Amino acid sequence: MKALVLCGGSGSRLRPITHTMAKQLVPIANKPVLFYGLEAISDAGIQDVGIVVGETAVEIREAVGDGSRWGLNVTYVTQEEPLGLAHAVLVSEGFLGDDDFVMYLGDNLIKDGIAGFVDQFRFNKPNSEILLAHVSMPELFGVAELEGDKVVRLVEKPSEPASDLALVGVYMFDHNVMDAVKAIKPSNRGELEITDAIQWLIDQGLNVDPHVINGWWKDTGRLEDMLEANRIVLETLEPRIDGQVDGDSEIHGRVVVEEGASIINSTVRGPAIIGERTRVENSFIGPFTSVYFDVLITGSEVEHSIILENSAITGIPGRIEGSLIGQNVQVGRSSVKPSAFRFMLGDNSRVGIP
Ligand code: G1P
Repeated sequence: MKALVLCGGSGSRLRPITHTMAKQLVPIANKPVLFYGLEAISDAGIQDVGIVVGETAVEIREAVGDGSRWGLNVTYVTQEEPLGLAHAVLVSEGFLGDDDFVMYLGDNLIKDGIAGFVDQFRFNKPNSEILLAHVSMPELFGVAELEGDKVVRLVEKPSEPASDLALVGVYMFDHNVMDAVKAIKPSNRGELEITDAIQWLIDQGLNVDPHVINGWWKDTGRLEDMLEANRIVLETLEPRIDGQVDGDSEIHGRVVVEEGASIINSTVRGPAIIGERTRVENSFIGPFTSVYFDVLITGSEVEHSIILENSAITGIPGRIEGSLIGQNVQVGRSSVKPSAFRFMLGDNSRVGIP
């Protein structure tokens, strides 16, 4: 069995972060989202992994390499244009051959991994197995309609969803899916939808086994989901202090301070992680916060946020929360007169001021 990991897409819902970064590489608890997926694939006993890359191919290759770090053997497949998930399968025909495979969307995070589902697929040998989860806004996903334990219909982002069961971004297929992706036509958004390809399998009378998952699952394509995923993963961290914490600082609860980080005259209330060489001084880091490497936080308070590398937050008078701050960002006070808010924000940035 092989795995196909999808790392194309433009990440439009996470702009401006994704103007300069692949959405699959945004860190959750200081580890790129994609790495959780690769670990899950490796844990399921799969070695041959195709990674479908688009615009952000260079960064993804740089981050993942040949996959040997996870015991994987990675092949890169280029998708010239983001023409949909089923199109990604189509361009991977050479890599997949006739093999069974699990398709994993690189921005999805599943608490319990996928080993159990992959075993089930290997044992039951359906033509496809899909994972479903109850969600509060099904209109944002592919939605399944079940009759008993049979899937009768799948619709991509329906305006009037027939159920609250969303398609999770992990799918298992045998070779029949290749006929499906060749047979379907582009959807209204101009993409070949995997949802339509699975519907095609159903229409041909092939077996599509649904499996409703109980553990949490997150598609990290939106800011709210990213922060929520970060919150959930931080709650599972093993506390560890590998950096320096001075005598005037306090660390409470589940906190990781990585190598080379320093906490000076500050309080860190977990769950939280402070990345390598990051310096936190005269500050408060509150629960559910991930600060990546080489960040400077002085005279400020941050909670329920993700701060990416090389950024600096200095002397902010109110508490920063629910924020995703990109790479090389500077948020600080200015003494320039007249006293005013001064911004230099990328396209699609969002600023909230009380
Ligand atoms: C894609 C699929 C959708 C699925 C979702 C899961 O949506 O098209 O059916 O429910 O992934 O993450 P997209 O993220 O492309 O909007």
